Amino acid sequence: MNVVIIGAQWGDEGKGKIVDFLAADAQIVVRFSGGANAGHTIVLGGERFALHLVPSGILYPDKTVILGSGMVIDPEALFGELRDLENKGIDWKGRVFISDRAHLVLPGYREMDREADARRAKPIGTTGKGIGIAYALKASRDGIRIADIDNIERLVNLGSEDREWLFQWKDRLLPLKIDLAAYLRSHRNTWRLFEGAQGALLDIDTGTYPFVSSGMSCAAGAAAQGGIGPRAIDRVLGVFKAYSTRVGNGPFPTEFADDSPGSLSQYIRKVGNEYGTTTGRPRRCGYLDLVALRYACAVNSIDRLVLTHLDVYDALEEFEACIGYHIDGRLTEDFPASIGDLEVAQPVLRTFKGWKRSIGNTRTYGDLPLNAREYIEFIEEFTETPISIISVGSDRNQTIVRESPWIR
Ligand code: IMP
Repeated sequence: MNVVIIGAQWGDEGKGKIVDFLAADAQIVVRFSGGANAGHTIVLGGERFALHLVPSGILYPDKTVILGSGMVIDPEALFGELRDLENKGIDWKGRVFISDRAHLVLPGYREMDREADARRAKPIGTTGKGIGIAYALKASRDGIRIADIDNIERLVNLGSEDREWLFQWKDRLLPLKIDLAAYLRSHRNTWRLFEGAQGALLDIDTGTYPFVSSGMSCAAGAAAQGGIGPRAIDRVLGVFKAYSTRVGNGPFPTEFADDSPGSLSQYIRKVGNEYGTTTGRPRRCGYLDLVALRYACAVNSIDRLVLTHLDVYDALEEFEACIGYHIDGRLTEDFPASIGDLEVAQPVLRTFKGWKRSIGNTRTYGDLPLNAREYIEFIEEFTETPISIISVGSDRNQTIVRESPWIR
């Protein structure tokens, strides 16, 4: 069975925790896109693990994790991360593999990325990890893949410094190399999770272009870059937070205008720990944008939603969510492609009552406060998508499962 998990907003929705939680029932986790720009945080027994390249199933000793064909991999970052895991007692040897079709991030890309962004009239605010450069070279057919490093001598478009650098990593990378499609075929009767990075609104096609990342964060990416075809996908889960955040620049219609001390924006950032896992940057905060979420559900065939960070709203008297936009005097419920339209969009907000009690220890849907359930049921109705899992805290066990994704 193949279950795909993607972010349904601008990344940082809590995918790491959800993949980690659902990996208990999977044998294989394939991360299909992105690179060291991602930051998936998992809290286990009070210890915090920050993963950037390694798929989130790694914390279980018996799971195989695979870096898929759509990933762009910086070996220095990867082996640094594996060393950190080893130092925390996680034995990864023999169960971390890399698709031979994945591309490499060479040392110069990071600086090129930062310089290119600084030159832009309106910088994107990239993570500076060389991601856009690696994907641009891939698209222009000048990238270097894991499959190519068997024969570094034959790589004619590689400078002497990069060639030497690659020789350094070759012997560590090659034992991890697999043919992903063949591997999955030979492990036919397994349950697999396909883990997306970033989110639907940062996807190169479906996102708020050009303020996006350069990879496929959409569900279709699992098919193009995860070693399976589209018809092999059994379920698509979209993870979203009770509110919205965004790191870097770009339109964000529900962003809180007031970010001064004591504001709701600062409150959410503090309680939700909304700081970038990769860059440490404070995340921009705003109310949940249901117009954007419904769009993400539609273009990704999301059949179940996963709501996270609901507990961040525990202390609020009331809060709002966006159900439409006013754009130049016109009302719309559709998510526009035009950055100009998104920048001037005035959200139409609906008010919800808070529940004013801690929900961190709640383990069943029926035990959630009525006002929390009313919020959840409104989201389901608006997006026409059931919410099957609700996260009420960062620990693995702070999770309410209404329906397991492993049931066909
Ligand atoms: P890049 O992926 O480094 O090129 O950055 C492009 C945009 O995507 C920037 O706005 C980043 O802040 C954002 N971004 C990239 N990766 C993530 C992520 O994992 N979570 C949230 N935002 C991200």
